[in-house]
Parts: sequence; C-alpha cells; structure tokens
Amino acid sequence: MSEPDLPDPATEPNASTDVESVELDVFLEAIQRVYGYDFRNYARASLRRRLWRRVHGEGRHSLTGLLEAVLHDPQAMERLRVDLSVTVTSMFRDPQFFRALRELVVPHLATYPFVRIWVAGCASGEEVYSLAILLREEGLADRVRIYATDVSEQVLEQAREGRMPLDKMKAYSSNYLEGGGREGLSRYYTVDGRWARMDPTLRDGVMFARHNLATDGTFNEFHLVLCRNVMIYFDRTLQHRVHELFDVSLVDLGILALGARESLVGSPLESHFDVIDAESRLYRKVAG
Ligand SMILES: C[S@@+](CC[C@H](N)C(=O)[O-])C[C@H]1O[C@@H](n2cnc3c(N)ncnc32)[C@H](O)[C@@H]1O
Repeated sequence: MSEPDLPDPATEPNASTDVESVELDVFLEAIQRVYGYDFRNYARASLRRRLWRRVHGEGRHSLTGLLEAVLHDPQAMERLRVDLSVTVTSMFRDPQFFRALRELVVPHLATYPFVRIWVAGCASGEEVYSLAILLREEGLADRVRIYATDVSEQVLEQAREGRMPLDKMKAYSSNYLEGGGREGLSRYYTVDGRWARMDPTLRDGVMFARHNLATDGTFNEFHLVLCRNVMIYFDRTLQHRVHELFDVSLVDLGILALGARESLVGSPLESHFDVIDAESRLYRKVAG
C-alpha cells in the first residue's frame, strides 16, 4: 500500500513554473502513449508531489529527466506507477458511513428481488468485505451481486485473497461496532499467523475485475454504486466523466454513495440526484 497523500517538504518543488508545467504535460502524454497509463486528468498538485518524489528517487533533476528514465526502463515506470497509486484503505472506514448505509440504504435495497452493487476503486478489498458483512447481517447477502473494480491488478489480487494484517483487526473491530455491526468482527475471519483470513463465503456473489474510471465505460445496471476516496485524486473534468458514468450505470432511484470526502456539489449532474444523507454523501437518482 502507498503512504497517505501528504505533502513531503523534502521533495516539494517551490512552485509550478511554466517550463515545469510544459514538462508535466509532455510527461503525462508520453506515459499515456507508451504505457497506456492515463493520469492526464488526475489532480495536479498531488500528482506533482508524487512525481517529484520519483524524480529524486530515480536520481534525476527534472520531470524530463524522470521521463527519460521511465521511457527507457519499464521497471522505473512500474516504480512510478506504484508511487502514483494511493491505495490506502481500511475495513468499515468512516463507520458513520456504514451506519448510514445500514439505516438508509439497506431498506431501499431490500425492496428489490435481486440487487447489483458496483464498488468502484475497491483497492485491496477491505471496503468490499465490510459491505459483504453488512449485507449478510441485514439478510440481503443471498440476493446481492457485488462488482468490485479497480484500475490496479495488483490490489485486486490482494482483494481476491482476502487476507488482512492481524494487527489491524482491533481497529477494524471498533469501526465495525461503531458502524452498527451486530455480532463481533472476529466471527468473520480466522487467524493464520500474522494474518486474518476473511471467511471465503463472504466472496460468494463478489466479482473482482479491472476497470479504469478514466477510460472505460459502463458494464451493467446497478442499484447501488459506491465510490469513496477515489475521485479526490481526479481533476474536475475526470470527476464529471465519472459522475456521468455512474449516472448511466444506475437504475432509476438507484443509490450513489460517495462518502464524506466527495460530493456532487457543483457537478452538472447534481440535479439528477436527491440527497439522502448530506454527511455520508448518499444520493438517490431521480426517476425519468
Ligand atoms: C484511496 S483508495 C480508496 C479505496 C476504498 N474505496 C476506500 O475508500 O477505502 C483509491 C483507489 O482508487 C483506485 N483508482 C485510482 N485511479 C483509478 C481509476 N482511474 N479507475 C479505477 N480505480 C482507480 C486506486 O488504485 C486505489 O485502489
């Protein structure tokens, strides 16, 4: 997992100069054309910080220097790709969000005979296992299919394994209870050395697959789309693209769950949704 996206004073350049901004454009265009990685519409400030960290990490002095390294050395590109991906996650992250899901969204989902859920940007799966536990406790597990996607095959591999560091389970347990958990989290995993192995039956009805929100289209109709802590790394243009993607992917009255750090405020699609919970950013798509 990468570090949280904090400013790093040791590697932070003072300001974006015109030349540097041209170098940045060329850099992003080049890696998109050569490797197919499209970071052109990611939020610039955080992208620059991470790129400059790699500039120093590769012993270079400029973005052009870094570009030379990554174009001629796929391993340098791989190191960069890992550094550009923020994959930090946790189980029952923001417990209030899970409480709101239980109280406000589950009763709505329960009205459908069969429920399709898309978890976009699922990272190593902690959010998906949390959701699967919640749905089991609410009696919906048997009629739900969860499509959990991420751009990174590496994190999806971890997600499929369903293995969490044991030393994190104490914090996850208290998140679980705060989020309205009905049992005890330990009921859902077995201990294997330093690892907690999630009950494999939680993966019944879950499909993990690669999907790039920047370039790929919709692939089904969903009753709930959950996407948290992903679009904060995108610029407005890409955020709008993703909002549109979610809009066309939801059934009428389907729920969009963005979590506390993202919202539809200012989006051209804001009027397509009613707010169900302002704090957890739960929206219902308006019919018609
Ligand atoms: C910070 S994690 C959030 C994980 C989880 N949703 C949560 O809130 O804990 C962001 C995830 O978004 C994924 N991501 C970044 N850009 C993406 C894109 N263009 N398409 C799909 N996933 C993307 C990253 O690989 C990473 O796993």
